[in-house]
Amino acid sequence: MKVIRVHAHGGPEVLQVEEAEVPHPGPGQALLRIEAVGVNFVEIYHRTGLYKVPVPFTLGAEAAGTVEAVGPGVTTVRLGDRVASVNVLGAYAEYALVPAERLVPLPDRVSARQAAAVLLQGVTAQYLTTSTFPLQRGQTCLVHAAAGGVGLLLCQLAKRAGARVIGTVSTEEKAALAREAGADDVILYTRADFETEVKRLTAGAGVHVNYDSVGCTTFTKGLNCLVPRGMLVLFGQSSGPVEPFDPQVLAQKGSLFVTRPTLAHYIATRAELLERAGQVLGWVASGALAVRIGREFPLTQAAEAHRELEGRRTTGKVLLIP
Ligand SMILES: NC(=O)c1ccc[n+]([C@@H]2O[C@H](COP(=O)([O-])OP(=O)(O)OC[C@H]3O[C@@H](n4cnc5c(N)ncnc54)[C@H](OP(=O)(O)O)[C@@H]3O)[C@@H](O)[C@H]2O)c1
Repeated sequence: MKVIRVHAHGGPEVLQVEEAEVPHPGPGQALLRIEAVGVNFVEIYHRTGLYKVPVPFTLGAEAAGTVEAVGPGVTTVRLGDRVASVNVLGAYAEYALVPAERLVPLPDRVSARQAAAVLLQGVTAQYLTTSTFPLQRGQTCLVHAAAGGVGLLLCQLAKRAGARVIGTVSTEEKAALAREAGADDVILYTRADFETEVKRLTAGAGVHVNYDSVGCTTFTKGLNCLVPRGMLVLFGQSSGPVEPFDPQVLAQKGSLFVTRPTLAHYIATRAELLERAGQVLGWVASGALAVRIGREFPLTQAAEAHRELEGRRTTGKVLLIP
């Protein structure tokens, strides 16, 4: 089988296409025949070493396909089941071993491509809007990188909660996509000062929550966009890590909250994984949540997919097809 492996951290060129033996599932494991791989920004952090994964490793955190074999003691899935996995390393491959209890069953009406396109980012948008900061009708939120993978889903779920959504994007094309996903207002933060614009759009009041996955270039100004006791949810750093800051700033700017959530802690148990994933896949099956697959690449062109994602040239989801 083909796998994409990393032997040394670095740029996209370190992604090696290799041949490997199809592995046999051990106790509690299932062998997944992968039909679609979701590409996520986190894999850029894994590749560069910003998030520490010991080398060598097979990249990838999201895959959908069919159970090809199961190991001893597996009761949660059977041969032939259509499933997806999220937050388990090794997805950039034709086959992967996954702990069976981390597999999510797919509804009939959700294809493997749709599942690989929505599971990780959809569950992220779900927990951010329902658990990290449970958005209420009438509140206003700011969504940075609103036309990205998480961004387009966040816009839809925030609208679904009855909130007003202000999105930021880098281009007109991305602005149109963010509006289509429900953003009431969109700021081109590469041309206009987003802090000034947020204040103008909210008549000086600010937003109740700022969902920030951009980090370095947006964090500090993002604190100035909040209502008193508002929350900045820093859930990524596509522009680079945030500089250390003095917590006293939070008092000065309005008794603000800052949280740095990560998916693993919101799907730690199988029950929570299935509940969140079931809700997201149910919305996709019913047509309530639109999934935009912006680009598909063959698995062997994973490096090119990384170049496009890092270069801000993608919208919605990027998939690799084995
Ligand atoms: N904490 C969690 O649980 C969790 C889960 C999933 C994802 N995330 C994070 O959420 C973020 C979004 O992930 P994603 O996979 O959906 O990616 P994405 O949003 O589709 O892609 C990143 C976007 O960030 C924006 N961006 C701004 N400055 C950038 C820069 N200097 N370089 C590259 N991009 C820049 C770009 O949009 P514009 O061109 O419009 O600026 C780009 O399209 C990532 O930071 C990821 O790590 C966190």
